[in-house]
Amino acid sequence: MRIAIVGGTGDFGEGIAVRLGVHTDHEVVIGSRTAEKAVEAAVSYGNNIDDESAERIHGASNSRAASTAEIVILAVPPFHVRDTVRDLSEQLEETTLVTPAVGLTKDETGFHYQPPDEGSVTELVADAAPDGTPVVGAFHNLPAGQLADLETDLDVDTLVVGNDPDAREMIVELAEEINGVTAHEAGPITNAPEIEGITPLLINLAQYNEQLHDVGAKFC
Ligand SMILES: NC(=O)c1ccc[n+]([C@@H]2O[C@H](COP(=O)([O-])OP(=O)(O)OC[C@H]3O[C@@H](n4cnc5c(N)ncnc54)[C@H](OP(=O)(O)O)[C@@H]3O)[C@@H](O)[C@H]2O)c1
Repeated sequence: MRIAIVGGTGDFGEGIAVRLGVHTDHEVVIGSRTAEKAVEAAVSYGNNIDDESAERIHGASNSRAASTAEIVILAVPPFHVRDTVRDLSEQLEETTLVTPAVGLTKDETGFHYQPPDEGSVTELVADAAPDGTPVVGAFHNLPAGQLADLETDLDVDTLVVGNDPDAREMIVELAEEINGVTAHEAGPITNAPEIEGITPLLINLAQYNEQLHDVGAKFC
């Protein structure tokens, strides 16, 4: 399969790209608003992994990346998700769209969940996506630092929501191809706020507990 990571030049994009590159056989296309930046990022991610995996990581404009992929992971900041999906609507018609985004605010005590008016970022993406494009929320609680550090053996869970059961299952299977990631089906998109709301908790735990730096979640 071909997987595009729109905004793949950022921290989460790097982490998920190198894990998909190393642990799976899929083609990974890093997307950026600037094609050159995407190509540079792909080369730089490839420099830190074996040659065979590196050959499967490419760079392209967001638009080109999305138009050639079966799965598109939307790795842009939450406040730019709506415009990005609308700008790419034509290229997203034949894809499954995955959102890991979480709306957050910060005050002197820590981070807090700030859902958009739609109720969750996943719901916002579903509203903005073309009709017929399945939208799945996943990977919200995977810390980018742990993903990008291939010396770290992952042992984290991800919760997967979506209204299309086949699309949900496809993303559960994709997530579980990454060594050390266990994926759980968590129902339709109306369940997304509870999942997105875990992220500020994890960041606050990391802030107040040195040994929990880059902490993920495990459900057992
Ligand atoms: N960081 C984490 O640990 C983590 C974990 C799980 C989920 N997430 C989610 O993953 C998403 C990406 O997080 P991140 O930390 O990687 O973010 P980031 O580094 O701040 O940004 C990712 C990329 O988004 C693109 N971007 C920036 N402004 C944009 C705009 N106005 N319109 C379109 N694209 C824009 C940039 O790519 P170009 O300049 O190349 O276009 C940037 O490299 C967020 O929604 C976050 O909630 C993050």
